[in-house]
Amino acid sequence: MTVAAGAPTDPVEITLCPDGPLLVRGNVSLVGPDGEPVPARRSTMALCRCGASAIKPFCDGTHKVNGFTTAD
Ligand code: FES
Repeated sequence: MTVAAGAPTDPVEITLCPDGPLLVRGNVSLVGPDGEPVPARRSTMALCRCGASAIKPFCDGTHKVNGFTTAD
C-alpha cells in the first residue's frame, strides 16, 4: 500500500501517536496493492500500526485494548 502526496508544495504531516496509529494530514491519497484508491473516511487518516484493526488500513481503536505499545 502506498500513500501518494499531492503537489510537492502541499504540506503533509504524519504524526506517530504514542501506542497508537499514524495520523496522516494533508493532500494525500491512499492506494491499495491493486492500484485502486482507498476511500478516506475523514480528512485526517488514522492508519493502524498495531495490526489488529478490523478496518485496516485504518485504525478502529483496537490498539487501546490489545496492549499495543510503541517506543515513540
Ligand atoms: S493502531 Fe489503532 S487499531 Fe491498530
